[in-house]
Amino acid sequence: YDLLTGKHLVITAGPTREPIDPVRYLTNKSSGKMGFALAQAAAEAGARVTLIAGPVALDTPNRVNRIDVVRAEDMHEASLKAVEEGCDIFIATAAVADYRPTVTADHKIKKSTEEIHLTLVKNPDIIAAVACHAKRPFTVGFAAETQDVIEYAQGKLKSKKLDMIATNDVSGTNVGFNSDNNALTVIWPGGHKVLPLASKAQIAKQLIELIAIRQS
Ligand code: PMT
Repeated sequence: YDLLTGKHLVITAGPTREPIDPVRYLTNKSSGKMGFALAQAAAEAGARVTLIAGPVALDTPNRVNRIDVVRAEDMHEASLKAVEEGCDIFIATAAVADYRPTVTADHKIKKSTEEIHLTLVKNPDIIAAVACHAKRPFTVGFAAETQDVIEYAQGKLKSKKLDMIATNDVSGTNVGFNSDNNALTVIWPGGHKVLPLASKAQIAKQLIELIAIRQS
C-alpha cells in the first residue's frame, strides 16, 4: 500500500436511472460492485477517494467520500465539479445510460392504446468530457462488450482520448454485471495486460497497482 498517497481519485460506479414518469425509469444491470471495490482498493493504497455512485445497494467503503446521484446528467455534473476542484485520476466504472427519455411525464402515464412510443435523447458522455477538461486527470475508462471486445475497446480508448481502458466481456454471467468476479484486459497506448478471472476485490487491487505505475 501507500502507492497512491497524496493522490485524489474520482470513481464513478453503478447504473444511472433515467425517469419516464414519477414511478418508472430506464436503467441497466450494473450493481456498483466493481466501482466500489476500486474505491476500497484506492483508499487502501493511501488515496483520497471520491466515489460518485448511481442507485446501488452497497455500503460505502471506509475512508471513502461518497456522492449519490440518480440520472446521467447528475453524474455528469458531479464528475465535472470534482475534476474542476482538482483530481489526479478519474476512473469511470459506471454503466451510464446512453439515452434518456426526451421528456419525463409529470404524472404516471396511463394505460390507453396498444402501442405507445418513447422518444430518447443522448446523454452527455461523462468520461469524454473529463478527458477534454483543462484540468484533465489521468483518465481510465471501462468497456463492457458482448462481442469483438478488444477492437471496440481500442476504438473507445482513441475516440474518448483515454489514458487507459479496462474491458470486460459481459456476454456470460460469471463476470461483469452484478457478478462477484471479473476478468479484464487493460489496454493503454502501446501496451496491454490481462487480469484473469478473480474476485472484484482482487481485480480492483491489481488495476489500482497498474494505474499507479502508469500515471506516475
Ligand atoms: O457494477 P457491476 O455490477 O460491478 O458491473 C461492472 C461493470 C460491468 C458495469 C463495469 O465493469 C463496466 O464495464 N463498466 C462500463 C460499462 C459500460 O456500459 O461501458 P460503455 O462501453 O457503455 O462505456 C465506456 C466508458 O464510457 C465507461 O467508462 C463508461 O463509464 C463511460 N461513459 C459511457 C457513457 C456515458 N454517457 N458517459 C460515460 O462516462
